[in-house]
Formats: sequence, structure tokens, C-alpha cells
Amino acid sequence: MSDNRAKKSKAPLKTLGRTLGFVIKNYPVHCVVVLICIIVSAMVTARGTMFTKELINDYIQPMLDGDLSSDVGFRELGHRILLIALMYAAGVFATFLLNRLMVYVTQGTLKIIRDTLFEHMEKLPISYFDRNERGDIMSIYTNDTDTLRQLISQSVPNMISNISTVITVLTSMIILSPLLTLTALVVVAVATAITRMLAGKSAKYFRKRQKNIGEVNAFIEETVEGQRVVKVFTHEDKIMEAFDEKNERLYDSTRLANGLANVVMPIMGNLGYLNYVVVAIVGGYLAVAGVGGFSIASLVPFLQFTRQFNMPISQFSQQLNSIIMALAGAERIFALLDAPIEEDEGYVTLVNARESEDGTLTECEERTGVWAWKHPHSADGTVTYTRLRGDIVFEHVDFGYVPEKTVLHDISLYARPGEKIAFVGATGAGKTTITNLINRFYDIQNGKIRYDGINIQKIRKSDLRRSLGVVLQDTHLFTGTVADNIRYGKLDATDEEVHAAAKLAGADYFISHLPNGYDTEITGDGANLSQGQRQLIAIARAAVADPPVLILDEATSSIDTRTEAIVQRGMDSLMEGRTVFVIAHRLSTVKNSSVIMVLSDGRIIERGSHDSLLEDRGVYYTLYTGNKK
Ligand SMILES: Nc1ncnc2c1ncn2[C@@H]1O[C@H](COP(=O)(O)OP(=O)(O)O)[C@@H](O)[C@H]1O
Ligand SMILES: [Mg+2]
Repeated sequence: MSDNRAKKSKAPLKTLGRTLGFVIKNYPVHCVVVLICIIVSAMVTARGTMFTKELINDYIQPMLDGDLSSDVGFRELGHRILLIALMYAAGVFATFLLNRLMVYVTQGTLKIIRDTLFEHMEKLPISYFDRNERGDIMSIYTNDTDTLRQLISQSVPNMISNISTVITVLTSMIILSPLLTLTALVVVAVATAITRMLAGKSAKYFRKRQKNIGEVNAFIEETVEGQRVVKVFTHEDKIMEAFDEKNERLYDSTRLANGLANVVMPIMGNLGYLNYVVVAIVGGYLAVAGVGGFSIASLVPFLQFTRQFNMPISQFSQQLNSIIMALAGAERIFALLDAPIEEDEGYVTLVNARESEDGTLTECEERTGVWAWKHPHSADGTVTYTRLRGDIVFEHVDFGYVPEKTVLHDISLYARPGEKIAFVGATGAGKTTITNLINRFYDIQNGKIRYDGINIQKIRKSDLRRSLGVVLQDTHLFTGTVADNIRYGKLDATDEEVHAAAKLAGADYFISHLPNGYDTEITGDGANLSQGQRQLIAIARAAVADPPVLILDEATSSIDTRTEAIVQRGMDSLMEGRTVFVIAHRLSTVKNSSVIMVLSDGRIIERGSHDSLLEDRGVYYTLYTGNKK
């Protein structure tokens, strides 16, 4: 977990309201029943305790005084006890129901939250994932939902239960004796003040200990990870010394913290009895003196209330703390849910079409292999159809991932169907960025990008991306078979289509030598395949989709030169009749391109065919002759 994950919530009340609002919205009836259960069980306890007063006043005292015959007394007493027993049974049932409901409501809410989170995450723009680390996003699903579980299932119900206990107990105490209640409250206030003071002192040492534990752990983790480096540079002794120093500090702070805790804890634990003792003495005096009709019969339940009162009070600050911590988790969940989704104002869509003799296009339902852009014009209500060809034009495009830093400057280029456009240049020159703009992972600041003559801002993103095939350097494979992974490019592809695509990509040979051929399971992002084999599968995946425009970003960089020669043939047939953007380190791969663009610091500094660029003896010439070994 990184440091920027704040431990405390910034707007606790707002977040709490939102969290509870979420729960109540989904489970309104359950929440009402839960609240009733909590109140019932608090009232049952108070009523049960009150019963001792009636017991003494109505039966025991009269029987002792001889005012009540023991026959009648015991019978009535029996009835009352039965009634109280029933009431306690209701209390037990309320607690049972409460626990069952809480499990149901909590787990249900978590499921809804996970679903909502995932659904929302899928709609977020790529830039969200630039700004947020993978680990942080993961931890929203794991750690933060878990703290939310504790919040919903424990912290909040316990808090409500404690508050209702305090209210019922305090009311009962006031009914029994306002004067004695005041005494008890004063003692509680004094005890709380003492506790705070002592706890503050030891908390200081505990915080220091916590910090030292963190340092020792971090040091161990770093050393374990860097074991190879440590050994290679023979730093074992130095590292041992550094560890010793940190370990010593941990020892010191722990000793102090625990030493103080050994003194403080028992005092704090027994402060509750102070209240009990003071109330017993003062209450005993009041009863004997008969002040305000206070009697021993009232003192017995009052003492019990005093004890019931202590517990929620001492737990209060701890519970409040855990609620505030949990709310920080809830806040991160809401932050993801509030992240603005990827806007799509596009209205030009991609449809299946049929072309008549005279070249006019008509839209149709079935797959014809001919695609057309359907372009409605709001001005006159007409619809025009443009054949999907894969003609891409950049006109004076400027772009930066962040407003402060322009990454691409004045990029203009024309890519006609069937042409192969290559980008070469140093790492960070902006090659990948250009391709990110074609599929509209990001929007440009200046200029225009046209696709078959249509401004790509007008094209619906999903349709735009459907028309593009992208193979990246870091291929991502999903859990499933090899065939499933190729089919990812076109979900309804037949086995024949999958095999043909693999052949085209040059992946067929190695796949047929896998233990189960196309049915071989891919595990852990393709850990059982080599990097090159994964790229071949990714190329086959793009091939099966049969897109008019293909983007290959260092797609063959992990394939050895010999395999590349084989793949190259497949790639050449794959590229035929398509617009292809190729980015490659190995200049041999791009030699046969229609046009090669040399990028430097986000500018196209040279452009032309391989031969003409060599003739110019510019940057490309240096790159080519320098690279060629
Ligand atoms: N997601 C991003 N957010 C911010 N800056 C980025 C991002 N991706 C790339 N850049 C920056 O844009 C520039 C061009 O990067 P890129 O197009 O990936 O280079 P290339 O593919 O030519 O190696 C670099 O300076 C890089 O730091
Ligand atoms: Mg790149």
C-alpha cells in the first residue's frame, strides 16, 4: 500500500451518510427491522434490570414485613418472573435476527458495490489508469471493501446499539434517582479524563513503536527483494549493521511502550469500579437517609445500570476511531465510482452494408463483409453512408497527455488504404502516442484526425475501435485456451477462421506443437508461453478480426530474427489491402513501408521511402547504418 492512501477520512459525515444511504436504498425494510431489533434488545436489558426494584419493593420487602402471605407472594412472583423470561426470550430472538440480517445486508451490499465498481471501471477512460496505480485499484476491491464490511456489519450497528444502551440506561437511572445519576456522571467524566491522559502518554510510545515496526519490515522486504544485488556487491555486512540499528530502535520503543502499558492498562481497566464504589457509597447513604424516597430496592438496579453504562462509554472513542478509518476506505470506493466515465459524443456508427452496381451503399442486418460509416446529418435529417476503407489523415495535430506538456507537435500525415506507414525514432519520441490518438484513448488539443474523411470525434468510440486492429508490445492474454484468446478478436469466429488467422500470423506451427494444440490452457497471463509466442497469438487475434486498419506497436520486438522472417511473411499477407501503422525497433521490419516517418521529440523530422531516406543521409541514414549489424 503506497503512502498516498490516507488513513483517515477527509469528510467523515458526508461519506458515512452516503454509505448508509447506499445500504438503506438497497435494503430499506431490512434496515428498519435491524434498528427495531437493536432498540428492543437495549430496552429488554434495561427493563430486566429495573425488575429487581419491583422484586424487592413488591414481594420481598412485603413478605419480610409480613404484609404479604408467602403463598400469594410466590405465585404472583412466579407470574412476573415468567413474563420477564418471555421478554428476555424476545430480546435473544431480536439479537439473533439482528445478526442474521446483518450478514445478509452486508454481503448483499458488498456484492452490489463490487458489481457497481466493476461496471463503472469498465467505462473509465484510459487516462484514469495512467493516473492510478494498479495496486491501488486492486486494493479498492480487496482492502477497502473489507473495511466497508466491518463498517456495515460491526462498527455502525455497535455504535447504534451503544447509543441506545446509553439512552435507555441513563433514562432508567434518572427515573431511579436524578441525584445519584449526576454523581455517576461526574465520576465517569473524571475517570474518562484520567484515562485520556494516561492513554495519551502510552499512545505516544505505541505510535513510535508502530513506526519502528514499519521501518524494520520495510527494510526486510527491500533486502529480500534485492538479495541478488546485495550479494553481487557483497554488501552483507553493511546491511546487517543497518538492520541492527533499526532493530535496536524497535526494541527501545517497544520496551518503553509495554512498560508503561503494564502500569497504565490495569489502572484504566479498573477505573470502571471507581464509579461502582462511589455510587454504592453515595447511594447507600441516600437509601439509609431516605432522601427523595430512594431505597435499597432502587440501589440494586442502579448499581447494575452503573456497570452497563461504563462499557459503551469506554468503547465509544475506539469505535469512533474505527468508523473514521473505515470511512477512509469507503471514500476511496466512492472516488472510483465518482471518476468521470469516458465521454462518447460520437454519432457516426459502423454498419453492415451492401453495395449495388452503381456503387450506392444500403444498410443491412447480416454480415456482408462490407462495412459502411452511417453518418446522420442533424441539419437536414439525411443519412449518408461512406464505405469503410481505412483512410487516415492527420492535419496539424498537437497533443499532450497533460495540458502543461505538449508531446506531439504539428503532426500531419496521410495513410491511404493498402499503405504501410512506419514510425521510427528513439524511445519517448511519441510513436505510441500517435497510435493512442487514432483509437481515441486520448483526445487531441489541436488539429484534426479524419477517418475515411470523417472527423474521428464524430465517430462512436466502440465503432471506431472495432475497425482497428491493435497489436502491442506487451501482449495481454486472458485465462482460457489458445483458441479462446485468438477468438477474442472476433467472438463469433469459427474454428476454421481461428486456424486461418493463426496460419496467417505464423503462429500455427508452434500452437500445433503445444500439448493440447489450440485447446491448451493459458495460465497466469501466458506465463507458460514465451514472449514471442504470446506476440504471435496477439497477431493472430488481430488477424481474426480482419480490420481495415492495423496498428502494430513493436509487435515483433520479442521475436527472434529467424522467427521474425517467418512471421514477416504472415504479416505481409495480413497487411495486404489494409492501412497499417508499424512501429518497430528493427529497421529491417519497416524497410518495405510505403512511407517511413522519423520522429524526434514529438515532431516528424524526416519522411519518405527507405531508399529516398537513405539517399538524404539524414537521421534515418544514421539510424539504419548504425543499427545494421
Ligand atoms: N500515459 C501517459 N501519460 C503521460 N505522459 C505519457 C504517457 N505515455 C507516454 N507519455 C510521454 O509521452 C512521450 C511519448 O511517449 P511514447 O509515445 O510512448 O513514446 P514511444 O512510443 O515513441 O517510445 C514520452 O515523453 C512519455 O513520457
Ligand atoms: Mg512506444
